[in-house]
Amino acid sequence: MIADATNADVFEVKVKNDNYPTAYKALTEVALQEKKSGARPEYVGEAPDFDNYDVIFVGTPNWWSDMPMVLYTFIEAHNWQNKTVAPFVTHEGSGLSSIPEKIRSATGANVTDGLAVYGHDAQNNREKANKAVQNWLKEIGF
Ligand SMILES: Cc1cc2nc3c(=O)[nH]c(=O)nc-3n(C[C@H](O)[C@H](O)[C@H](O)COP(=O)(O)O)c2cc1C
Repeated sequence: MIADATNADVFEVKVKNDNYPTAYKALTEVALQEKKSGARPEYVGEAPDFDNYDVIFVGTPNWWSDMPMVLYTFIEAHNWQNKTVAPFVTHEGSGLSSIPEKIRSATGANVTDGLAVYGHDAQNNREKANKAVQNWLKEIGF
């Protein structure tokens, strides 16, 4: 929705060795271990050249009030100097947590107000999610 509204290029950060359990509880446990150990899983492929972008929308699910560790791998592999990051998060109750602040400290970029959308709305209530997206884009100046 954001890409459609802003005509953005999209790069999906996908884990290279995706051995994550598909069962929810088991996945939460693996993810917690990764967070605790500060894991930096590798990702697949590469984003388009950062030099061509001033604003980068960084979207992530909220995992344990944080991002999946692979997002940190991606962030640390790029130069965010003079970039503006617009963070958006899906969650099931925790909202943004302090993910925008975490992105600010990991990137050193200028970070806009974030958008939090329930994961179940993003998946099953597209109209509600789209309203939230459009309002947020307006708020942050798009
Ligand atoms: C490992 C893991 C940890 C999660 N931790 C949280 C959390 O701390 N707070 C919260 O609101 N939702 C939490 N969730 C729910 C996810 O945010 C939700 O499933 C996700 O945003 C849906 O997006 P997706 O379909 O892209 O995974 C967690 C989910 C997983 C799998």
